[in-house]
Amino acid sequence: MTVTKRIPTGIPELDAVLRGGLLDGRIHLIEGRPGTGKTTIGMRFLIAAAAEGQGSLYVTLSETEEELHATAASHGWSLDGIRLFAPDLLEAQEFHEQTIMLPSDAELSQLVDAIAGEVERSGATRVVIDSMAEIRLLAHDSAHYRRQIITLRNRLARANATVILLDDLTAMNHAFELQSAVHGAITLEQRDRPYGAGYRTLKIVKLRGADYQSGWHDFAIERDEVLIFPSLIAEEHRRDYQPGELLSGVAGLDDIVGGGIIDGTSTMIVGPAGVGKTTLALQYALAAVRVGDKAAYFVLDEAEMTLRSRMIARFGIHDETGEPRGLLITRINPSRISAGAFIWRVRRSVEDDGVRIVVIDSINSYLDLVREESTLLLQMNELFSYLANMGVIAVIVGAHSAALDTTREPDALSIITDNVIALRFHEAHGIMDKAISVMKKRHGRHSHEVREFRLVEDGIEVGNRVDDAGPDNATRLAH
Ligand SMILES: Nc1ncnc2c1ncn2[C@@H]1O[C@H](COP(=O)(O)OP(=O)(O)O)[C@@H](O)[C@H]1O
Ligand SMILES: [Mg+2]
Repeated sequence: MTVTKRIPTGIPELDAVLRGGLLDGRIHLIEGRPGTGKTTIGMRFLIAAAAEGQGSLYVTLSETEEELHATAASHGWSLDGIRLFAPDLLEAQEFHEQTIMLPSDAELSQLVDAIAGEVERSGATRVVIDSMAEIRLLAHDSAHYRRQIITLRNRLARANATVILLDDLTAMNHAFELQSAVHGAITLEQRDRPYGAGYRTLKIVKLRGADYQSGWHDFAIERDEVLIFPSLIAEEHRRDYQPGELLSGVAGLDDIVGGGIIDGTSTMIVGPAGVGKTTLALQYALAAVRVGDKAAYFVLDEAEMTLRSRMIARFGIHDETGEPRGLLITRINPSRISAGAFIWRVRRSVEDDGVRIVVIDSINSYLDLVREESTLLLQMNELFSYLANMGVIAVIVGAHSAALDTTREPDALSIITDNVIALRFHEAHGIMDKAISVMKKRHGRHSHEVREFRLVEDGIEVGNRVDDAGPDNATRLAH
């Protein structure tokens, strides 16, 4: 089998999803409703091509040249080096009104001829046609449209250019499946959420005779770039590592955990709001930093982290950000980011920053984010498998109000994590105290004791076994 050369799209992660890029000299389709990002991606493709010195041609039927320049400028891009061609559709329509008696194909074939002629004359090797919807509007019926598509396709194929056709997914669209006429097709979608910002996602529908990453991949259009977040396939990532263990540095805690948290395992910290989950998670993150490793702390719950800023301040080893060197704090607004984008951020911290531990605080906020996508457990499972393959420790903070209920989220997550540490309030002699226990540790032994748990100025303390009648009450009261 001959392997077709691949052509970069100008968006590196899209090339990764395409396992190399577009098919050289072939015709591709990018389809999606208005506003899904077709023009933006088409533009990005030609800007990259022009930068490489490739002859680049943008055929615009839907927007004027001025509008295209304005869109490019809004992204901080320039269309210099790209040939713009705007065939006069208005003229064609006038022509149509005056010549009802002409053979029905005339005006449309005139337009198709003008486009193909321009491709041939310009000698362009990279072409975008924006969009096929305007061509379809000129067609009398689907047979007519189909004939013209085949003519256009044949002439483009002879021109040896790598082409992207853009198409609006309007109701009429299914009269003729443009998808079947092209070598490669990508569908863009914009999905709404009941709460927060919608998100964009795309899927490779086909790439004839070539490999690509199937499934949906979230993406974002930012001011200066298009970001694609390839969906995570855990088994494609693996690292050789010797699992060590990460001690918290808090004697009582290391006692009941039965040592440290083992590299490549996942730990869920559960408990009601305000009991100290963030402080406990931060203790492990800072422990990694203390031994010279890096920790990625994803704050999805702003209030929690601000509360602990004093603990971070007292830790020392500060860099210019005012945070301990090696503690990489990323604040994320869950209502503004898609699940795919979030997982991509976690991957970057692992692959680019080489962190030893990833903390997600809290998973409740993340749940709000992906609940509608209803694939939370699958996605988390994939993420944990990935982190395990990479030898990275995952610490997940999850709030719950009552006793752990594993039939419901987020408690259901505790089933797929290796370790579970539970924090709770308990009442003793008219005082609301806190307690800690290890409910599960998959690799190795742990204590089954319930111990006193205290929040102190620079972190946590784990005291004696909780015993309402025991002598510990006296020490606690002395605190
Ligand atoms: N400068 C920009 N920064 C961020 N997003 C932008 C910018 N310009 C346009 N967009 C977004 O890109 C989308 C438009 O994409 P576009 O490529 O024109 O879609 P289509 O061609 O599919 O109709 C809009 O949803 C808009 O919000
Ligand atoms: Mg457009």
